[in-house]
Amino acid sequence: MALRLFLFFLVVTGSFYGRANDLAQAELGRLLFFDKILSGNKNISCATCHHPLTFSTDRLSLGVGEGGQGLGASRTTGPDWNPIHERVPRNSPALFNIGAAEYIVFFHDGRVRVDPSQKSGFATPAKGLLPMGLESALAAQAMFPVTSPTEMAGQRGENAIANFAARGNLPKLWEALAQRIREIPEYFFYFTEAYGDIQSPQDIQMVHIANAIAKFETLAFQSLESPFDHYLSGDASKMSPSELKGMSLFYGKAQCARCHSGLLQTDHNFHSIGLPPIGAGKGTGWNGLDDFGLELTTGDPNHRYKFRTPSLRNVALTGPWGHNGAYNTLKGIIKHHLDPLNGLQTYDPAQTLLPYRQDLSAIDFLLLQHEPTLLAIYQSVDLYPIRLTEDEVNSLVAFMGALTDPKSMDLSHLIPMRVPSQLPVFDFQ
Ligand code: HEC
Ligand code: HEC
Repeated sequence: MALRLFLFFLVVTGSFYGRANDLAQAELGRLLFFDKILSGNKNISCATCHHPLTFSTDRLSLGVGEGGQGLGASRTTGPDWNPIHERVPRNSPALFNIGAAEYIVFFHDGRVRVDPSQKSGFATPAKGLLPMGLESALAAQAMFPVTSPTEMAGQRGENAIANFAARGNLPKLWEALAQRIREIPEYFFYFTEAYGDIQSPQDIQMVHIANAIAKFETLAFQSLESPFDHYLSGDASKMSPSELKGMSLFYGKAQCARCHSGLLQTDHNFHSIGLPPIGAGKGTGWNGLDDFGLELTTGDPNHRYKFRTPSLRNVALTGPWGHNGAYNTLKGIIKHHLDPLNGLQTYDPAQTLLPYRQDLSAIDFLLLQHEPTLLAIYQSVDLYPIRLTEDEVNSLVAFMGALTDPKSMDLSHLIPMRVPSQLPVFDFQ
């Protein structure tokens, strides 16, 4: 068994990547990533919103959390007798290369980050409640989807996890999830393979779960064999003339690398590009429909509407784009960068991918009609208008395609046939 898992990761990563222990942790993490046992109502897993079949995201502008049915663009807002409470307020990010050491800040608004001044080593919404022993900011991140009523926990009164979430009692919530795992003997086998310090099921903690999921994400979504990578190592033959032209615009006249810098095309910093506001927002601004971005983490009004620069690796696979999925074409979001005012004024909400439900859909685009909000968004923008010809814009789009790793175009080998809880892995019915 162990050998089979080991070979699995040799094939997946194409290289020997660490100690056997790491591989056993990653295999355990893979099962947990797909297991709905980590959600309050046992109806959603991490993979639902970060699915291999949709390139580690969900193909929606704004996702549908627990209570929804189906996967990807055909996911619904749940049965009429038990509909979802609200949409997830932000776009599900793709997970490519997020295990790279340069990633020390997570979420669109940076609310989980490495912070040596904290006892746990990380600044997070859990403040002092975060346990010790998390191995990376990525592992710290994995502690949080399970605490969100909309994403995974469920609504107050529905289950014990949801009740702890509603009361903000995160230590009890994490303990209750660990207890669910302890009660499944097959998981105990995987935990003993993965961790030297686990002798009895009682030793299993949420920290082990989060560390294992982070190991899986790191190995499974590493993706650095695009035509652009070949170019960097001296072989330009895999890039077309149009892609090469787009690359020189990207690093030159179009000034994209001012923010999309480094190997992964991100400075891991926060900027406003003034995207059209859609969805139900994060409870701030006009009627609570706005999303103030980084300000929600720092409390600093100068940070309003700033969001983390996303990596552009595999970006051609991972639309819709932006923190709220406002744009459904790469050309659309690139043109928006070049002239944000025009982008805001001529934005067409018909391009969004938002599963219809009358009451939710009624508020999705309200903020687009609120002039003072649009003006404030426009005034926050950190971009200068740049004039490019249509042909040059097309070259930039072509260059985005050169950042696609062909290996990432089929990730179906990551999907396990079954998970130890016996809950369903396939969501097609
Ligand atoms: C209901 C959909 C949903 C589920 C389920 C879900 N996520 Fe996410 N995930 C999101 C959204 C939306 C964001 C962005 C939220 C934000 O920035 O405020 C996100 C952000 C992340 C990030 C940060 C990426 C980055 O670039 O900053 C990671 C990593 C991640 N999720 C992993 C997980 C893991 C691990 C699980 C399971 C424990 C999980 N997600 C479950 C929707 C989901
Ligand atoms: C001032 C910094 C900055 C510059 C310059 C910039 N970007 Fe961006 N870009 C961002 C930020 C920040 C986001 C995410 C914004 C959000 O979600 O609200 C983004 C988002 C994107 C996205 C969507 C990625 C995704 O996964 O959703 C693409 C594609 C993109 N930029 C391409 C470009 C190109 C091409 C250029 C040059 C024409 C460029 N950017 C210039 C900061 C910048």
